[in-house]
Amino acid sequence: MTRKPCYLKAMRIAHCSDLHLLSLQGARILDFANKRWIGRLNLLTNRGRHYHTSAFEAMVADFNASDVDHVICTGDVTNLALEQEFRFARTLFDQIELGPHRVTVIPGNHDAYIAKGNQYFTQYFADYFKADAEWERPADETSARSGHRAAPDDPTWPVVRIRGNVALIGLSTSMQTPWFTAYGRLGTAQLDRLRAVLADRRLASCLRLVAIHHPPVGKSAHNKIRGLRDFAAFARVIAESGAELVIHGHEHRDLRGELPGPNGDIVPVLGVQSGTYEANRPERTARYRIFEIAGSADEKRPGVVAHRLRRWNSVDGQFVDDLAEPSKVTPQARITAENC
Ligand SMILES: [Fe+2]
Ligand SMILES: [Fe+2]
Repeated sequence: MTRKPCYLKAMRIAHCSDLHLLSLQGARILDFANKRWIGRLNLLTNRGRHYHTSAFEAMVADFNASDVDHVICTGDVTNLALEQEFRFARTLFDQIELGPHRVTVIPGNHDAYIAKGNQYFTQYFADYFKADAEWERPADETSARSGHRAAPDDPTWPVVRIRGNVALIGLSTSMQTPWFTAYGRLGTAQLDRLRAVLADRRLASCLRLVAIHHPPVGKSAHNKIRGLRDFAAFARVIAESGAELVIHGHEHRDLRGELPGPNGDIVPVLGVQSGTYEANRPERTARYRIFEIAGSADEKRPGVVAHRLRRWNSVDGQFVDDLAEPSKVTPQARITAENC
């Protein structure tokens, strides 16, 4: 008798981003000196009213009530990179019952609003981006001395965490930039390390999920003021070494692009809305995305078989399926359903 193919149980990964959690508790006027005053004005006029901690609290409750296996946040957990914002954000992340081993957080540009932001991010979120022991990279002397470095020079990144049949590969584009700018950069050294990670034989049977704050494709990537400065070099690494999925934040929008991989492969690149926004633009209302990942014994790597958005309903304070955005199901998903 011919055996039907055996498909592995789907793994569910939630992707949220750009929470911009606000806490000014204990902030002093000195905290807003220099560059921060611009952010503060922006904060007072817009962000404080448009980004709602209650949305993230509802998202955490949604995670805790669901069967999500892992949560990834692609940065901008704070607004001004104030220490009290990081402390506050950490408190909220700690409410996710999966715990830091099954929740991954990478930094965004707002988390490096000032140079000390990277240090605070490490201080408060180290558990949430701790590489698996076999993927740890020794910090060089300068890092050890300063306690933090800007993304392009920080040997911590990429971080590799293997969960089930998924290799989570977290990048950092987080760096302090001049006033009125919000761009990011990976840097040659981080891109070289990424190339090596993607080609590593230890990941030969994993879905390689690359998480980055800045969008690496499309108009947003090209933007000189707020784009990814080395998007072309990133694209070359993906074209050469491949990946199965790239996710990002930063633009607070449901962006969908793709990058060419090796051998004619197409690598989907998906951005998501802010996880806390609610104002008068429904298409930007707080959302997060759930990816379903499954594989079969006959295929080398698992794949994304479906993804869907959950949208915040501020009236009842809960996340619900975004009915305007039906699940994208690939043929593999239908086969999975028929055979398992
Ligand atoms: Fe953001
Ligand atoms: Fe950002």
